[in-house]
Amino acid sequence: MESKVKDLSLASEGNKKINWVKEKMAVLNKIKDEYIEDKPLKGKVVSICLHLEAKTAYMAIVLSELGADVYITGSNPLSTQDDVAAALTKYGVTVYSWRGETAEEYEKSLNKILDVEPDLIIDDGGDLVSKIHNERPELINNIIGGAEETTTGIVRLKALDNKNELNFPMMSVNDAQAKYLFDNRYGTGQSVWESIMRNTNMVVAGKDVVIAGYGWCGKGVARRADGLGAKVIVTEVDPFKALEAKMDGHRVMPMDEAAKLGDIFVSVTGCKNVINKNHFSSMKDGAILANAGHFNVEINVEDLKEEAEQVKEVRENVQGYQIGDKTLYLLAEGRLVNLAAGDGHPVEIMDMSFGLQILSLLYLSENDLLPGLYKVPKHIDKKVANYRLKAEGIEIDKLNTEQKQYLETWKI
Ligand code: ADE
Repeated sequence: MESKVKDLSLASEGNKKINWVKEKMAVLNKIKDEYIEDKPLKGKVVSICLHLEAKTAYMAIVLSELGADVYITGSNPLSTQDDVAAALTKYGVTVYSWRGETAEEYEKSLNKILDVEPDLIIDDGGDLVSKIHNERPELINNIIGGAEETTTGIVRLKALDNKNELNFPMMSVNDAQAKYLFDNRYGTGQSVWESIMRNTNMVVAGKDVVIAGYGWCGKGVARRADGLGAKVIVTEVDPFKALEAKMDGHRVMPMDEAAKLGDIFVSVTGCKNVINKNHFSSMKDGAILANAGHFNVEINVEDLKEEAEQVKEVRENVQGYQIGDKTLYLLAEGRLVNLAAGDGHPVEIMDMSFGLQILSLLYLSENDLLPGLYKVPKHIDKKVANYRLKAEGIEIDKLNTEQKQYLETWKI
């Protein structure tokens, strides 16, 4: 199968981005050094559906260096960076993806990387697993297993697994500590604000910022908003998370109330229709709307279109919706703002997430697992954390024998 990207002449720009992250992805480099001679993925076909930017590209390159035959597409029609996609084709990875794919093209790209009958898959949001189970079950027998990157994908996998309908092993990378404590919290926290600020060029300090959802990602976005000087309001449906938000110092209220107060709204719930027509009508003129959840269903863009008398592209990645005498500004069409209009999470953070991905694929190919959803084994999680600590030049204490015994006994 041949690669299909927007424009191969963009490769040299993409290559600069890949070279930049390559030097900073110490965990991936360590894993590469450890396994490159043995080529443990030799003969394995790996199909990947992930946001295609430089860090993802470097992971695909490492997988290929470990012997895999790698095929990749983007996990969102807007998150593929065309220069990176072009550059990646020069490393022996087959790429089928470009920014701005239509819904039909997106489906076709997913099918293309499945046509190669993968042994292993990497998914971000569950689209590959869903397609395999619903439309291409003939592929199941060949699949050794896969790994899922994100919270939304895990929700979908759990639903499938609970019905005993997940037909191959999937590793829940998202639930590893070296993933969610850093990627979901600090990664989303930084990348969401980086994207909102670069696309609006507006100040955050002093603004009322409404954050819908206080999971690991919401907590990160709130914390960084706080650090930037915003006055944070959190909306939640979970009583524990609502209390946690309150005790972290934020105001907590229903979206109906928050809608009237917010200057900037960020949805990060994983649920649908969280900001909808009931809210648009009470928002202030100039309010900015951004989504940081995986799917573009959190802000009801259809409602927004219906309410608006006029829609204008006011700046790259910013659409103005004129409703009566006010304008609401939607970023990145309501798609996940940090990737559709930004570079995604910082490099050191994706280094850990992607380290977990590669080690999970190695684990799957070395162990014959039954179908189902699996946690990443603790030794892999710890290995990634230790590699990253080493890269940061940090040493930590070790338990001595006496301390170990103390922790293992119930007697004092
Ligand atoms: N870069 C690649 N995949 C990503 C993800 N799921 N979140 C943030 N940045 C990414």
